[in-house]
Amino acid sequence: MNTITVTTTINRRNYTLNISPNQTLLDVLREELGLSGTKRGCEIGECGACTVLMNGKVVNACLVLAPQMDGQEILTVERLAEGERLHPLQEAFLEHEAVHCGFCTPGMLLSAKELLDENPNPTETDIRLAISGNLCRCTGYVQIVEAVAAVANSQLTIDR
Ligand code: FES
Ligand code: FES
Repeated sequence: MNTITVTTTINRRNYTLNISPNQTLLDVLREELGLSGTKRGCEIGECGACTVLMNGKVVNACLVLAPQMDGQEILTVERLAEGERLHPLQEAFLEHEAVHCGFCTPGMLLSAKELLDENPNPTETDIRLAISGNLCRCTGYVQIVEAVAAVANSQLTIDR
């Protein structure tokens, strides 16, 4: 198969990549770059395990063809922390025991980040809506919503 060249920014680093046009963004992140924090679940846009941010917006990496990365800015879970310092959402997920097996966690974190970047004071409904594309097979939704709420607005009480 012929390859094509794309230039892209991933986790604030510039890349020029030779890729097959039928690869997905998920393939490139995991197989070419070793960024395995982005999870491979359903591969049909249903589970949200592969959620990353493209230009600050949530996308399912399994549904983005690699050529669509060209000129775009991608953020994955690997770059949420600043060196040794966890992102406040990561701290809150730990504090609220919102991580069980962890498979959904990278996607949840990035969906929550998009929400808080756009709306620092969301309601509980806003939070639930923002993570509605991310399935948690461990069903720990209450703790996840609490963790996001804790970062957003400590006054928000979550209906259990
Ligand atoms: S792996 Fe992409 S949505 Fe499930
Ligand atoms: S923590 Fe296991 S899938 Fe959500």
